[in-house]
Amino acid sequence: MRPAADRPKLPVPQPPQPASIGVVSVSQNIERGAAVALDGMGDLRRSHACGEVTSALVGREVVVAGWVHRRRDHGGVCFVDLRDREGLVQVVFKPEIAADAHRRSEDLRSEFVALVRGVVERRTPDTVNPKLSTGEVEITAHELRVLNAATAPPFLIEEDSGADETVRLRHRIHDLRRPPLQRALRVRHALYQSVRRTLAERGFLEIETPILAKATPEGARDFLVPARLQPGSFYALPQSPQIMKQLLMISGLDRYFQIARCFRDEDLRADRQLEFTQIDLEMSFVGVEEVLAVLEEVTARAWRDAADIDLPRPFPRIAWAEAMARYGSDKPDVRVQLELVDLTDLFRASELRAFRANVDKGGIVKCLPIHDAEALSRGAIDRLEAFVKKELGGKGLAWVRVEEGGTWQSPIAKFLSESERAGIAERTGARPGSVLFFAADEAAKANAILARLRTDLGRQLGRVDGRDWAPLLVTSFPVFERDDEGRLTYMHMPFVAPVEEDLALLESDPERVRGTHYDVVMNGLELGSGSLRNHRSDVQRKIFDVLGYAKAEAEERFGFLLEALDAGAPPHGGFAFGFDRLAMLLAGAESLRDVIAFPKTQRGQDLLMDAPGPVEPKQLSELSIRLDLPTEE
Ligand code: AMO
Ligand code: AMP
Repeated sequence: MRPAADRPKLPVPQPPQPASIGVVSVSQNIERGAAVALDGMGDLRRSHACGEVTSALVGREVVVAGWVHRRRDHGGVCFVDLRDREGLVQVVFKPEIAADAHRRSEDLRSEFVALVRGVVERRTPDTVNPKLSTGEVEITAHELRVLNAATAPPFLIEEDSGADETVRLRHRIHDLRRPPLQRALRVRHALYQSVRRTLAERGFLEIETPILAKATPEGARDFLVPARLQPGSFYALPQSPQIMKQLLMISGLDRYFQIARCFRDEDLRADRQLEFTQIDLEMSFVGVEEVLAVLEEVTARAWRDAADIDLPRPFPRIAWAEAMARYGSDKPDVRVQLELVDLTDLFRASELRAFRANVDKGGIVKCLPIHDAEALSRGAIDRLEAFVKKELGGKGLAWVRVEEGGTWQSPIAKFLSESERAGIAERTGARPGSVLFFAADEAAKANAILARLRTDLGRQLGRVDGRDWAPLLVTSFPVFERDDEGRLTYMHMPFVAPVEEDLALLESDPERVRGTHYDVVMNGLELGSGSLRNHRSDVQRKIFDVLGYAKAEAEERFGFLLEALDAGAPPHGGFAFGFDRLAMLLAGAESLRDVIAFPKTQRGQDLLMDAPGPVEPKQLSELSIRLDLPTEE
C-alpha cells in the first residue's frame, strides 16, 4: 500500500454551516421493536474521519460520524466503536460527562449511524490497542446524534465475515463495509488513476465507444438488446471495443485508450465475469516493440502505484512455441521449476499401443518429469490418474517411478523396449527418486493435462522459486489453428496481422503463418492480449477467405471495417488488459468477484438486485417480442 498520507481521504471538515434544524423522526429500532428517536446532523459536521483520530489530537474536540461497529456496557460507562472508511475509533459515554448522550447511547445497535462530538483522550496503558491506528486514544462523548437505525447485520462486519459467498452477495451492502472489500476497491481506484496517468502522459486520448453496438468477433456469445424503433433488430453489447478502436486509428486519432466495459455471455469461472472491464488501447504507426514497451510500462506503474511494488524489468519474453513446448501452456507460471519434455518420436514404432496409435493419428506424447519425488505416494499418483481421466478428459496418465536400485515401477514398463527406456531416461534425466508422468493425446489436450499437473504438483511439492511476481511477455502466437473438427480457424480474432514476411504463405500454407499476437502474463494468469492488425484490406479479405467466410458473410459482418480499411488505414496495433484481473492480483484476492463492487454469481445472477428477472408483458410487446420458453422437465 502507499503511505497513508498519499491515499485519498474523506472530505476535510467544512466551515460551520448556519444552524439547520435536524429532521427529528422516530424510527423503529428494528432489532428490538422499540422506537428510537432519530436526529438530524443539525449544524454538526465531521472534523475527522474515525480512523484518523490519533494521539496527535489528544485534548482536542472532534466530531466523527460512522456506523456502530460494537457497543459494550461496562457498569455505567458505555463503549462504542464507531467505524467509517478510514477505520475504527472508540467512543466512551460517561453519565457524569454527558448524561443525555450516555442515556441515548443505550439505543445504539450494530450498524446504526451516529455522529459524536467529544474530546480525544489518551487511553490508560493497559487499554491501548496496538492493532488500531486509533488504539492509543478514545473519544469522550459530549454529544450524540443518532442519524439512523439499522437492521441487524446478516454477518460479521469483520476481516472474515464467516458467511457463505451467496449470503455475502445477497447482502452486498454489508459485505462492502468489510475491510477486505474496502481495501480491494481502493486498490481498484489506485489502478484506474495509475493507468490514466501513465497512458495520458504517453499521448493516449481517452475516448468512449458505444455500448449499444454490433456483434464483435471475440468468440463468446453476444448479449443482445432489442431495438424498439427497428422491430426485429438487435444491438449487441460489445465483447470488446476492438473494431471501434481500429476505426479510431483509421480516423487519425493516433493513440487511444479506454477503461471499457465488455460483455460476454460465457461460462463463468473465478477469473471470468459476464460483464468486465478492460484497459483497452490502440496505437498507430507502430510495430510489436512499441506496443510491448507501453504494456510493460502500464503494468510496472500499476504495481508501483497500487501496491508499492517494483517489478523487475525488462519483463522476460518467451515465444509461444517455446512456452507450449516447455510448459504446455501459453500462460505459464514460470516460478514453477518443472518443465515438460516431448517424447513423440520415441513412440513411433512402440509396442505401447495406446501411445503409438495416438502418434499415428498426429498426436503427441509428452512427459512431466519430477525428480526427488519420494514425497509422491502411490496413492497420490493413482488419485492424479483418476483426476486426469475424470476432470481433464484425458485417456489416462501413464507414469514411471524410478526406484532406489534403478528399477522402473510402472504400469507401462513392460511395454517399453530397451531403446525407448534409454531415450526416455536420457531426455527426462530420470534417476532414482524420479517420477515421470506421460500424456499421449492431441497436442492441445496433452499439453493442457501436463500443464495443469505441472503447476499443481510444482506448488504442492514446493518447486517454486521465491518470487512474488513473475511477469512474462508471450509473443509470436500463430494466426490460425485447427478447431475440434480439424477446420482452420483464427487463434484469437480475425484481425490479427501476420508477420510481414509470411504474407505470401497465406495463399500456400496458412498454418505456417506466424502472427503478431502477444500476451502479458503474470504468475500464470493471462492479464491481457493484443496484436498488430491488418491495415490492408486485401490482407484482411484474404484472411476472411482462409477462414472460409463467404464474401457475402464477410461483407455483412465486417463490411464497415473493410470499407474503413479502404479509406486509408495506418499500420496499427494494440492491446487489452483485463482490468479486474489486475485488480484481483494487486488486491491479493482469489476471485474477480472480490474486486468488483456488484459482481455476478457463477450463474450470472446479481443476487442483490435480483437480476436478471422477468419484465412486464407491455415492455415485451413494445419490443415486438413474444416469449417461447422451454417447457420445464
Ligand atoms: P481478449 O479477448 O483476449 O482480447 O481479452 C483481453 C483480456 O480481457 C480479459 N477478459 C476477461 N476478464 C474477465 N472476465 C471475462 N469474461 C474476460 N474475458 C476476457 C482477460 C483478457 O486477457 N480486443 C482484444 C484485445 C486486443 O487485441 O486489443 C480482446 O478483447 O484479461
Ligand atoms: P491401459 O493399457 O489402458 O491399462 O493403460 C496403462 C497405463 O497407461 C495406465 O496407467 C493409463 O492411465 C495409461 N494410459 C493409457 N492411455 C494413455 C494416454 N493416452 N496417455 C497417457 N497415459 C495413458
